[in-house]
Order: sequence, then structure tokens, then C-alpha cells
Amino acid sequence: MKDRLTISAARNIFFGGTIFFFAIFTLLVVQSVMFVDESSKPENLNEKVALGKEVWERHSCVNCHSLLGEGAYFAPELGNVWVRRGGRDDAEGAADFIKEWMKAMPTGVEGRRQMPQFNLTEEELDGLVEFFKWTSEINTQNWPPNDAG
Ligand code: HEC
Repeated sequence: MKDRLTISAARNIFFGGTIFFFAIFTLLVVQSVMFVDESSKPENLNEKVALGKEVWERHSCVNCHSLLGEGAYFAPELGNVWVRRGGRDDAEGAADFIKEWMKAMPTGVEGRRQMPQFNLTEEELDGLVEFFKWTSEINTQNWPPNDAG
């Protein structure tokens, strides 16, 4: 052993390996950033989307729901709620559904999980709709794997 692996060979393996994997890591980071940049459609971001995200955060919807797979599993995934409620074919219908849903909570139906009433303004509801529309257009490479998250 002593003859085969000299100190300088060990050093070369160490530095060579470090540089090699650091370069791969850097390339992966660059690739990820580029992917996120184009897949999250920054050109579709606007004031309404920002307001919707603010409402989402202020009321901690993520404590019950998941968004693009992240969050709690008490209530349905909402990153795709726009698509699930037919937004691609009937944008107005999906927007109405989401807004009426928010206004109708809680349902009080026995044995059904309940969602609180948040008393949002019309402007905040429009923001939420735009936010969900934007999230539904993000290329998540089919994540989450099923509709309900
Ligand atoms: C305390 C838990 C809880 C919180 C917090 C919560 N929700 Fe919900 N939400 C639910 C539950 C439970 C359902 C499903 C109820 C049902 O099917 O009857 C639901 C359903 C929904 C739906 C309909 C989903 C679908 O699949 O059509 C929307 C939209 C929604 N929530 C939006 C929100 C938004 C926006 C917020 C934050 C402002 C929020 N929720 C906060 C529990 C919660």
C-alpha cells in the first residue's frame, strides 16, 4: 500500500476530485436556475399575482393546503386548482368557482373537513385567482404526481 499511494497522489486525487465535483455542482446550479427562470413564467407575474401570494402567506393557507406539493396534507393541493376547476376552457367559470368557494366557507357539512372563512375583499379574491392561475402555468414536470397533491 505504502508504495502505491504516495502522498502527492493522494493530494492530487483530493484536489482533482474536489474541483471536478465542484464544477459539476456549479453546472447543475446554473441549469436549475435557468430552468426555474423559464418554467415559472416571470412574464406572467403582475401586481394581482403578488397580492394573491401575499394573501396566501398572510392567512397561512399552507397550514392546511399544499402548493406545488409543498405544505400540509389536510386539504387539497391548490397549485393546480385553476386547471382542476376548468380554468383552461372556461377562465371565468374557474375564477367564479374559487371566489364563491372562499365566500361560502365553512360549509358546516357534518363529517366533512372544514375550511375557515377569511372575509377577503373582492380585490384580494381576484388576486388569489390570478395567483392560482399563475401557479397552474408553472412547469413542475408533473409534480405533484396526483391531482389532489
Ligand atoms: C384549517 C384548514 C384550512 C385553511 C387554513 C385553508 N383551507 Fe382551503 N380548504 C380546506 C379544506 C378542508 C378544503 C376541502 C373542503 C371540502 O372539500 O369540503 C379546502 C378547499 C379549498 C379550495 C377548493 C379546493 C378544490 O379542490 O376545489 C380552495 C380554492 C381553497 N381551499 C383555498 C384556500 C385559501 C386561498 C386559503 C387561505 C386564504 C385556504 N384555503 C386556507 C381547509 C383549509
